Amino acid sequence: MKAKILVVDDEPINVRLITEILTADYEIIEASGGKEAIEKMISEKPDIVLLDIMMPEINGYEVCKKIKQNELTRFTPVVMVTALSESEDKVLAIEAGADDFLTKPINFIELITRVKSLLRGKHFYDQLIESRERIAQQNEALQKARDELEVRVRERTAELTKANEALECSNEFSKTANIKLKKADEIKTQFLSVVSHELRTPLTPIKAQLQMILAGYFGELTEKQKKSLDMIMRNTLRQDRLVGDILDISKLEAGEMKFMMTRSNLNEVIVNAVETMIPLANPKNVILTLKQDIIPEILLDKDRITQVIVNLINNALKFTDSGGTIDVELSGAKDCAIIKVKDTGIGIKKEDQERLFRPFVQVDSSYGRKYEGSGLGLAISKGIITFHGGKIWIESEEGKGSTFQFTIPYIYENKDEKVKVNLFE
Ligand SMILES: Nc1ncnc2c1ncn2[C@@H]1O[C@H](COP(=O)(O)OP(=O)(O)OP(=O)(O)O)[C@@H](O)[C@H]1O
Ligand SMILES: [Mg+2]
Repeated sequence: MKAKILVVDDEPINVRLITEILTADYEIIEASGGKEAIEKMISEKPDIVLLDIMMPEINGYEVCKKIKQNELTRFTPVVMVTALSESEDKVLAIEAGADDFLTKPINFIELITRVKSLLRGKHFYDQLIESRERIAQQNEALQKARDELEVRVRERTAELTKANEALECSNEFSKTANIKLKKADEIKTQFLSVVSHELRTPLTPIKAQLQMILAGYFGELTEKQKKSLDMIMRNTLRQDRLVGDILDISKLEAGEMKFMMTRSNLNEVIVNAVETMIPLANPKNVILTLKQDIIPEILLDKDRITQVIVNLINNALKFTDSGGTIDVELSGAKDCAIIKVKDTGIGIKKEDQERLFRPFVQVDSSYGRKYEGSGLGLAISKGIITFHGGKIWIESEEGKGSTFQFTIPYIYENKDEKVKVNLFE
């Protein structure tokens, strides 16, 4: 596109002269007076103005001032064209804001050179303006993006704060719930041990008195009296056992059961346990046998391991009918001793086997059930064996019999801290 030049002169001849020179390379717009010039500045937006000074109505200085005062036109270069070459005129022209001047008669080479140089300047200036606008636009877009980001960050922060608060709240809640649960557990355990202790205390003098009466210490007894007292004694012992078992369970759960770990001869422990059971097996017509490898001494609590073996034999006896057998076996494996108690009793269904080691669980727990007991024996046994670092488990087939087995590692890992046995798992 050609650059536009506005030529302002009241003399048509001057206008024509300039036009002839420039028209090949530029688009020429003409104005014959100041007023028209100012109008065309706005409507035509020329790139450069050649402005005559001496004009009727408004002179060139005034026109120039107006151009330079208007926001829309003030950056358009103005070249004053004057017949006068007095320096005073040049001062006036500069004061009016002119960018350059030419003296009449116009030297055409000079004219072309000036126009070219001013247009170059104008071109740079336009580019500058354009890039400034672009930068301004970019800045605006940037600012907008930044504002949006800030809003988003603020929203997200608020959300996070809220979530954090909720989390803290629920943490606090579960902490409190945990503390309460622990407390309730402690209270339960303490209740159990206090109550069972209190229940047990009176049983000791009752047993002692009964023994004295039964021994005839307070006089001869009739057969009927003896029978009745025997029954009282049996039930007292039963109650004593039950209370003792509840005490054991609560201690195991709280990690408070005291174990007396000593280097012991497990062979002896088993022989003794089996021997105490023979008087119970014989009247039931159940054959109790013992087979054993010789085992090195093991660190264990003799009384507690005896309690486990007696428990298992007791169960076997309870659930095995007359004519059956109970085989106890001790064998030495690579890193532990294995004790088996195998019976030919009623057996246990697969689905019942796992849960029997939990407290108070019995296969038959109906009110009028056939077998005595409270379902604590296996749970206590499991607690004791777990403390020793061993395992206890069952293999059984309903109607054919059961085999209970447990292990005791040869090397006992000393547990300094309290070992709690979770019996309800
Ligand atoms: N040898 C076994 N044969 C068949 N069932 C058994 C045998 N041993 C245990 N059980 C089943 O497992 C249940 C739990 O045994 P556990 O020794 O824990 O309790 P219990 O013998 O019923 O009562 P407690 O031992 O407290 O006097 C028994 O009630 C019985 O149903
Ligand atoms: Mg039992």
